[in-house]
Amino acid sequence: MSDTHPALAAGRFAGLELRNRFALAPMTRISATEDGRATEEMAAYYTAFAEGGFGLLITEGTYTDQAFSQGYLHQPGITDEAQAASWRPVVDGAHAAGARVVLQLMHAGALAQGNRFRDRTAGPSAVQPMGEQLDKYRGGGPWPLPLEMTRGQIAEAVDGFATAAVRARDAGFDGVEIHAANGYLLDQFLTPYTNLRTDEYGGSAEERLRLVREVTAEVKGATGPGFTVGVRFSQGKINNFSWRWPGGDAEATAVFTAATAAGADYLHIAGSARDWLPDGPTLPALARRVTGLPVIANGGLHEGAVARRVLDEGHADVLAVGTGALANPDLPRRVAAGEAPAAFDPRVLEPLANLASAQAHANA
Ligand SMILES: Cc1cc2nc3c(=O)[nH]c(=O)nc-3n(C[C@H](O)[C@H](O)[C@H](O)COP(=O)(O)O)c2cc1C
Repeated sequence: MSDTHPALAAGRFAGLELRNRFALAPMTRISATEDGRATEEMAAYYTAFAEGGFGLLITEGTYTDQAFSQGYLHQPGITDEAQAASWRPVVDGAHAAGARVVLQLMHAGALAQGNRFRDRTAGPSAVQPMGEQLDKYRGGGPWPLPLEMTRGQIAEAVDGFATAAVRARDAGFDGVEIHAANGYLLDQFLTPYTNLRTDEYGGSAEERLRLVREVTAEVKGATGPGFTVGVRFSQGKINNFSWRWPGGDAEATAVFTAATAAGADYLHIAGSARDWLPDGPTLPALARRVTGLPVIANGGLHEGAVARRVLDEGHADVLAVGTGALANPDLPRRVAAGEAPAAFDPRVLEPLANLASAQAHANA
């Protein structure tokens, strides 16, 4: 079958045997219990993508400690035994349907708008975040002014990532993905306008990369060989979509090489559909070339022709699909059948980006 879509090819990716190249992109659904446990409804939600043929599932961003990491009310965590145990049905559902599943580890930093452990937010520096809190995630109004994290609080955050990763491994996940994208804590340290520190965690690009290096190395060291550790990067942020790394390809190269040297097994480069429009090099292709690691690309990749081009031209190894997967939990099957994907209807995320709103929309 010479015209088989390249995304349907099975293969090895960062130590995982995948039945195809389609990954579910990480998506926050604020549908956990108030105390951060994954629910049966969430297990059914994730299992549907596995049954729909996705080779890899990346969970929503999951908080890592009981200090400053939680970003949203009803966000799941993996900070104690009860939270860890609650993920087992998600893992078992994915595995029973033939998918691998990776837990995304997230520290919201200054972009926290609901944390039951702390009244204040914390980030690299006391800089007011741009924009306003997200109402779809139960927030509203300006972001609070964050505390500048002490070295002790930074060490606590690093330790939180490592402990959370071990819990994820022990709960049966095939790997973890460190969220260093979209404006959250690790990205706040990378970004010159949110990181004004004068200690070793701020200043030059090298120093601003220190936290992501430490987190990656600690997670890798704590979980040991044979457990997959990825790192997700993006230029755009939830509160500044159009931000681009000021140092261009040189800065991108420094970011990708730092994560690789710290022990990452794969890189996940998030972007938007627009990234695929111009011909020529892309960030995922650059990541692949300068690191030699396998790379996940993301952004508008539910369109079969775009997906084909990204793989055929060697931009990436795996395609993470977000909104296109919400509209088509069986996207891999549709691609195999040559069917066009259904369009994403943003109303499934209204009024809240949770599973109850999606259900109400489906029943309407
Ligand atoms: C409802 C929703 C929640 C999201 N939550 C996360 C998240 O928890 N972690 C993350 O890295 N990206 C998150 N994203 C970004 C997606 O992973 C992805 O980058 C974005 O949707 C673009 O890909 P797409 O064009 O395939 O939708 C979220 C996106 C949506 C729509």
